[in-house]
Amino acid sequence: MFKVTIDGIEVEVPEGTTILNAARKIGPEVAPPTMCYYSSLETSGGYCRTCLVEVTKGSDKDPRPMPKLVASCRTTVMDGMVVTNELSPKVKEARAGVTEFLLFNHPLDCPVCDQAGECHLQDLSYEHGKYKTRTDFERRTFEKIDIGETISLHMNRCILCYRCVKVAEQITDGRVHGVINRGDHSEISTYIKEAIDNDFSGNMIDVCPVGALTDRTFRFKSRVWFTKPVDAHRDCEKCSGKVVLWYKGDDVLRVTGRKDTWGEVEEFICNTCRFDKKKTSDWTLEGVREISRHSVISANKYKKLVKPKEFTLNDIKALPE
Ligand code: SF4
Ligand code: FES
Repeated sequence: MFKVTIDGIEVEVPEGTTILNAARKIGPEVAPPTMCYYSSLETSGGYCRTCLVEVTKGSDKDPRPMPKLVASCRTTVMDGMVVTNELSPKVKEARAGVTEFLLFNHPLDCPVCDQAGECHLQDLSYEHGKYKTRTDFERRTFEKIDIGETISLHMNRCILCYRCVKVAEQITDGRVHGVINRGDHSEISTYIKEAIDNDFSGNMIDVCPVGALTDRTFRFKSRVWFTKPVDAHRDCEKCSGKVVLWYKGDDVLRVTGRKDTWGEVEEFICNTCRFDKKKTSDWTLEGVREISRHSVISANKYKKLVKPKEFTLNDIKALPE
């Protein structure tokens, strides 16, 4: 086991652990934000630079600081390493710069974007963004693409985090899309259209940190903070069948995977559960979903409700609007 100190808090982790995962072991107060890393997707991370941290002591053996900030999702800990994240002015400045770059071509259309309220870039901008842009040239624009009946690709909003590409590669059978071109011409290839036939393609919506890939069946139906998240499950032969139903009144507006504190899906779900099962009778309800992620949506008012023994549609109706 290696000892590492992050923002003054010591933690012991197995050799080979990344600084990011060591920080996550301590908790959200010291964990760097991530826009591209996703624990369940291999080789994710290393693209966005939002997780940069300062290593002020390399290790007990070699205590020299690292000369540059490092990507915590790709750097493994050494015994005796000392890291600063929230407490480092250099990190704060760099993160503000990264946020500015991520927003360079991103449209500020949160008022009409379905991802608003649970968008990682929105959260990052609130914490590190500037009020005004320092550029006046036109942002790059693309035509919107509907990928079949259920997924919409709004490339203008894409930050090229590669998560959906990793889903296509690792969760669906055979990769059918990727990033084409380079620099500010880069885009998620339209071959993404071919991925729609796969049973697990809907997970691309859940992993997308921004509103580039959205659920067409939920499009413009409600702001997420007006919906009521409820844990539910069903017997499914393709996936675990463990989901969150997002209610408005008696209607299930959308079905998603269950996300943890880091905004990552606990278990990927199949398209049948996500798109075809939108009746309460399709599901066994478990209780109110506690949204623990640090985001607009986690300012929810359902947190303190006690989980009843048998949770029914009437309990959902009784929740505050
Ligand atoms: S579409 Fe979303 S998940 Fe895919 S690369 Fe762009 S931002 Fe990432
Ligand atoms: S989360 Fe580490 S580089 Fe993106």
